[in-house]
Amino acid sequence: MTVGAARARPCTLVVCRGCCCGNARKHPDTDHAWQLDRLRAGAAEHGFQVRTTDCLGPCDQANVIVVQPSAAGRRAGGRVTWIGFAMDDDVTDDVLRWAADGGPGMAQPPATLELQFIRPPREARLRAGR
Ligand code: FES
Repeated sequence: MTVGAARARPCTLVVCRGCCCGNARKHPDTDHAWQLDRLRAGAAEHGFQVRTTDCLGPCDQANVIVVQPSAAGRRAGGRVTWIGFAMDDDVTDDVLRWAADGGPGMAQPPATLELQFIRPPREARLRAGR
């Protein structure tokens, strides 16, 4: 049985801002602050959540964003989804659209975004029981 906050838990974007993701010295052509501002504005408008984290592991695929399903999305079969190379406005738009539509389990991701799904690092797969 799910109660209270867990039942209502929205889709959450976990945006890596570790040693490589979000690093203007390593990726000078990406406006990382603008990306985070856009994601946060989308969250405020559509009711999903955004949080940042330290390095998630696959730095060579920066910027990495992990899309966690809402509680309802998880019940509907949605799974945690890792997105790599999230560097330009197009992928930011796709992430925003998917999260606004409900995220994993609730809506199909944009086809262009699916091309950027990456395999999570081993420890994340173990945590997820896969
Ligand atoms: S800094 Fe993002 S995966 Fe390492």
